Amino acid sequence: MPSHPIGAIGTYWATQRHATPEDVELMQALANATSLTIENVGFQKDLERRVIERTLDLERTNQELEAFSSSVSHDLRNRLNAILGFSSLLEMQASPRLETAQQGHIHTIRDCASQMKQTISDLMTLVHAGRQEVETGLIDVSVLAQQSVADLRKGSALPDAEVQITPCLTAYGDAGLLRLALDNLLSNAFKYSSKQQHPKVVIGASPTAPADKVQLFIQDNGAGFDPRYADRLFKPFVRLHDESEFPGTGLGLTIVRRALERLGGSTSAESQLGIGTTFRITLPSQPMRAAAPASIAAELL
Ligand SMILES: Nc1ncnc2c1ncn2[C@@H]1O[C@H](COP(=O)(O)OP(=O)(O)OP(=O)(O)O)[C@@H](O)[C@H]1O
Ligand SMILES: [Mg+2]
Repeated sequence: MPSHPIGAIGTYWATQRHATPEDVELMQALANATSLTIENVGFQKDLERRVIERTLDLERTNQELEAFSSSVSHDLRNRLNAILGFSSLLEMQASPRLETAQQGHIHTIRDCASQMKQTISDLMTLVHAGRQEVETGLIDVSVLAQQSVADLRKGSALPDAEVQITPCLTAYGDAGLLRLALDNLLSNAFKYSSKQQHPKVVIGASPTAPADKVQLFIQDNGAGFDPRYADRLFKPFVRLHDESEFPGTGLGLTIVRRALERLGGSTSAESQLGIGTTFRITLPSQPMRAAAPASIAAELL
């Protein structure tokens, strides 16, 4: 209740009379309720102004952090390139004079520098996936998957896996983010089935998805993993396979989850050790609003 008056309420009656105590009580209650409403409106406007100010502050801080992390990553990459370059030179020039163990040390330096470079690059991809503009439309997922497979085959020495892609799979999403998710899921499928005699990767859709959703799957017949850890895999740096057997940074599935969340989708995994793995991704089948950009700090902490 305000301590000072902010207005007055009066009444007119058809015939002249004094207000009864009940009339006064009623009018006082009306006055109190009105003044409270006026105060609340002011309070709400103030609150809205403060929320807008805070949002702008946060947006500015995020932009500064992004600029900072991209210049730090640039700087780190330059130094790592120098480490890689000079250790190569050292290896070439000094190799004949070095003992096997010393040559091994140089290899370890090079491997660590390469891994660190990859981790920095994946972290930047993760930041970007959470912040980039989302332009949704109906996407031909089958074509996107074919392009992804072709590029993955070009980019690295993948085993000659049999790939089956169901034609005409469609979903609503952003082509860039969807491609990012498919690249990571397919590179996993190839990587973790690379030691099989006949590696096979299948991409299809589940017929039982609800009408407003599309459920796609990416299945391989590779090494698999212990299904008890299926949920943990989407967290940063969680790896269930040994680096020496299947190298990686442990950020691929975090990128997948983040990309799909921006599109209003989700992902899950099923697996059996030594039998194979199926990743399912659920996406809207109709247009929907993209999720707001997310903070990288929330992801990594
Ligand atoms: N298709 C798969 N089959 C078996 N295990 C898998 C598969 N996909 C993911 N995993 C397990 O989940 C872990 C996390 O996967 P994620 O893609 O995030 O990282 P990564 O493949 O190790 O490295 P990178 O960041 O380079 O992709 C992997 O280390 C692996 O143990
Ligand atoms: Mg991976």
